[in-house]
Amino acid sequence: MAIERTLTILKPDCVRKGLIGDVTKRIQDAGFKILAMKLTRLTPQTAGGFYAVHRERPFFGELVEFMSSGACVPMILEKENAVADFRALIGATNPAQAAPGTIRADFADSVGENIIHGSDSVENGHIEAAYFFAESDVVANQA
Ligand code: CMP
Repeated sequence: MAIERTLTILKPDCVRKGLIGDVTKRIQDAGFKILAMKLTRLTPQTAGGFYAVHRERPFFGELVEFMSSGACVPMILEKENAVADFRALIGATNPAQAAPGTIRADFADSVGENIIHGSDSVENGHIEAAYFFAESDVVANQA
């Protein structure tokens, strides 16, 4: 299987609940290497741009408001089969439907406030990573 990169965001509910450490440990214990990370806060404009694909959805306004409501922690992750493996680690978008032991099943409250984002394809992962990081922020060689 190919080595892939994916983009995650520990969302404002994750930061507010004091779960940055717990969730990051789950990610690292699952074999993901962190190539870039930072604490930041999205504006409504940047949150709207990041989720532009959902602009026509009825929940778009709520999503933008939530994602710009506090600090978040984006990270670029790398691993074999990273995109699919990360989505398995975090669980279904709606935590009520997420498999037991997944991050969303264990920590998330609702479909709107679901703790964590994971890219849905390698291509989107690259696009999403560029939203938060410059190439020079990516530490690929950590030896
Ligand atoms: P995420 O994986 O970050 O990508 C899009 C987000 O939209 C998703 O997580 C959810 O947090 C949010 N979302 C999806 N469906 C709904 C919904 N019905 N109501 C509110 N937010 C939603």
